[in-house]
Amino acid sequence: MMAAHRAIVSASILDCDLSSLSRECRKALKAGSDRIHLDVMDGHFVPNITFGPGIIKRLRKIGKQPFDAHLMISEPSRYVDQFIDAGCDSITFHVEVEEPIEPTLLQIRKAGRLAGLAIKPATPLSALDPYRDLLDIVMVMTVEPGFGGQKFMAEAATKIDPAHAVFRDRPGERPSRREVHVDGGVNRDTAEYCGGLGVDILVVGSTLWKKGRDIEREIRLIKALADEGYRRRRPEKARAAKRTAGEAE
Ligand code: DX5
Ligand code: ZN
Repeated sequence: MMAAHRAIVSASILDCDLSSLSRECRKALKAGSDRIHLDVMDGHFVPNITFGPGIIKRLRKIGKQPFDAHLMISEPSRYVDQFIDAGCDSITFHVEVEEPIEPTLLQIRKAGRLAGLAIKPATPLSALDPYRDLLDIVMVMTVEPGFGGQKFMAEAATKIDPAHAVFRDRPGERPSRREVHVDGGVNRDTAEYCGGLGVDILVVGSTLWKKGRDIEREIRLIKALADEGYRRRRPEKARAAKRTAGEAE
């Protein structure tokens, strides 16, 4: 039997063969990806253009696995309905957008989907403070959004651990799902580090789509390395808890 992994992988299809999107999504899921991460770019919020809700709606037919939309667009409020209609299970947009954020988060939650905010590498976690009780997902960007295949920014990743403390439940409302995602430059070299920081979802893009890659093996390795990171984290946590208990005596 295959060991159960704690690590969850969401395959970013940004760098796959875009002419065969549905085949590539199926391939990623069959190879062990738990979800599909869909990078939507408008050529305005970021200097690149990808695909929109129409394509996502058609892709929805490939299976029941969760679809995570990552909107790198300037006006999420204007299009959020369309992403809900397209069947996205979670919708994450950027805290750096220059429009009101709360109504869009409320709209996503009202539709029964997970609501998320992504933060660019230079944005502090405190930018999320006004939205703590409206969030299911915090997406920590470890590259500048816009392109796949960039180098992992370890400094930005240090926000992963404290990001878990951002979530807060609103009395009388659905409790938050509390997922911390890491997005950008996640591969064999960086997965263990991310696991050590306690990340919940690893977004993995270009490394899966390199020519000649065995995508199944790659996902298996990345999950195993992240799990290794989690295991290392645990003794540290236990030590810290012991110290605190000792101090309290
Ligand atoms: C970057 C995107 C990421 C990216 C991941 O703007 O949000 O999802 O495509 O790809 P890699 O893993 O290549 O950084
Ligand atoms: Zn992304």
